[in-house]
Amino acid sequence: PGTAWASTWFMCICLPADANQSALQPEGPLAKVVADLFWGMVAVGGLILFIVLAMLAVALLRARNNAEPRPLTFTQSRNLVFISGVVIPALILTVFVISSAAVNREIVAPMPEHALTIKVTGHQWWWEVDYLDTEGNHVAKTANEIRIPVGKPVRIALEASDVIHSFWIPQLNGKTDMVPGKRNLTWVQADQPGSYRGQCTEFCGKQHAKMAFTVDAVPEEDFETWLQRQAQPAREPATENETKGRQVFLRSSCAMCHAIRGTTALASVAPDLTHIGSRKTLAAGTLENMPGTLSAWILTPQSFKPGSHMPATMLTGEDLGNLVEYLLSLE
Ligand code: CUA
Repeated sequence: PGTAWASTWFMCICLPADANQSALQPEGPLAKVVADLFWGMVAVGGLILFIVLAMLAVALLRARNNAEPRPLTFTQSRNLVFISGVVIPALILTVFVISSAAVNREIVAPMPEHALTIKVTGHQWWWEVDYLDTEGNHVAKTANEIRIPVGKPVRIALEASDVIHSFWIPQLNGKTDMVPGKRNLTWVQADQPGSYRGQCTEFCGKQHAKMAFTVDAVPEEDFETWLQRQAQPAREPATENETKGRQVFLRSSCAMCHAIRGTTALASVAPDLTHIGSRKTLAAGTLENMPGTLSAWILTPQSFKPGSHMPATMLTGEDLGNLVEYLLSLE
């Protein structure tokens, strides 16, 4: 009960109400190691707090009862200060430093060669996600949503295109920085199927807070089916409206930054939209992916995410309707 109470208190004070973003509810081996370290530190800190408060209570009681003072000699008080003020803290901190370093080693532990590798690149303010095969060849590209097979360790290679970002899925791993010009490695494993929220944890500019992503852990067969579909080029338009929507996309400014594989739009400045219809959110977890929100985002992105690199687009109502219909058909 004590643990549950402390965990609830900590979540209420320090974390958003979203329970699937709590480091204290770990769902994978790496997050468990981090949570254990946290609880170990809380236990030792709590013990010290208890001892100090108990000594304070004894001193207050003695003062209230007008007890005889028991002055220490110089040597006694020097030894007391040296032992309780230097030796004991140094020992405790040394243990903490060593255990933190051990957890850090775990976070960057080398993975077996056959592990699936996902390259994640941090951008202001979204996540580029590339799936690689065992030889390092590119398989599929998506954005802001990562899918992994449940119960399997997955290697994550982290890069950044502009400034320093940091990759953290509180329920699945520890934080790892994404530094421009450098590749950092970490790994994740989800023990239970589910959707876990991740968040950029290094201040990276105005919309740092709206740089979220999700990790969906699904059974391995479902993962393989999904990955095969993501590797395919975009489906052809099936209706007249969708055909018109594709024309709008290709002749407007959309195609200057975004790619839809299978068309002539191949830019890589902004999220790949080849399968945008299969995603749950827009703008890195900012909006739910629905016709209304997608239309609003295309027309006035700056009202949702001021400073974002997505410019407003001027479109007629008909063009916008066809464009949204086309984009959401890309599953
Ligand atoms: Cu990216 Cu903060």
